[in-house]
Amino acid sequence: MAKVISILTSKGGVGKTQTALEVAAALSRSENKVLCIDMDGQRNLSGRVGCNLKAKNIYDCLDIDTDMTKEEVFELIDSAIQHCEECDIICGSTKLSKADKVFSDKDDIFLLRNFIKILERKKYDYIIIDNPPARNIASDMSIIAGDYALLISDGSKDARQGIEYVLDDIQAYRSDERANWTHIQVLGIIMTKVRSNTIHYQATGDLYEDVIIKKIQDKGLGKDVFFDTVCEAIEVMQAGNKGQSCQKYKPYGNVARDYRRVTTKIVERMPY
Ligand SMILES: Nc1ncnc2c1ncn2[C@@H]1O[C@H](COP(=O)(O)OP(=O)(O)O)[C@@H](O)[C@H]1O
Ligand SMILES: [Mg+2]
Repeated sequence: MAKVISILTSKGGVGKTQTALEVAAALSRSENKVLCIDMDGQRNLSGRVGCNLKAKNIYDCLDIDTDMTKEEVFELIDSAIQHCEECDIICGSTKLSKADKVFSDKDDIFLLRNFIKILERKKYDYIIIDNPPARNIASDMSIIAGDYALLISDGSKDARQGIEYVLDDIQAYRSDERANWTHIQVLGIIMTKVRSNTIHYQATGDLYEDVIIKKIQDKGLGKDVFFDTVCEAIEVMQAGNKGQSCQKYKPYGNVARDYRRVTTKIVERMPY
């Protein structure tokens, strides 16, 4: 069964999409079968891997008509999965920019989880979900569907607040009255765009390691939660302009190396 990793933080611009891409690319390079799902209406990940934005997308897959036959559903999935150079992807939909409007039924929150169950026949090792910089039904669906959460920060106070919001949401969906809604566990916190020689970095790193991770573990939202960093480097933009991950564009650069180390930590924390 695929391990489903949800990349979360309600703050934008902190490196969620880059993390989704790099972790997917690093896992693919180690011979894993990886699918990315772009749940952000801005479709940055879809754009970055260079997929066809006109193809069937995740909205079409979540909006499956109950009258459709099994064969028709499988056909839809086959047409929605795009085989890009570094991973497979189901691209995002601009309709997700108004996710709360388009998915307003009480049970819609389970749509992504149910869709991922149908995907089981595709035998992916990992499914990586990139999320919007928002607390909405799309990120809620990803919390419900995920086995594991990766929380992303750029070291700012706003990003830390964004992480706190995600933790609140995870906790709410694991509360007594919603006991079976999700079993998502926080795997780790990744601080991106780090210039490691600054005092700010050291203070922020300590805060995450000492305070926030302890809180996650005390609340039972994750066990062996890791904290790691990814450095800031120009190659991220250069790789993006080429439609590539850093794993492909500059595999021996600092960013690619940092993300491979992070990916090893991720894999180590997942039981078979
Ligand atoms: N390690 C890094 N070094 C330099 N720039 C980065 C790094 N990670 C991300 N960026 C840049 O920061 C911007 C925001 O990253 P992105 O992954 O799109 O964030 P999010 O998905 O959280 O909104 C992008 O322009 C991206 O190229
Ligand atoms: Mg993004």
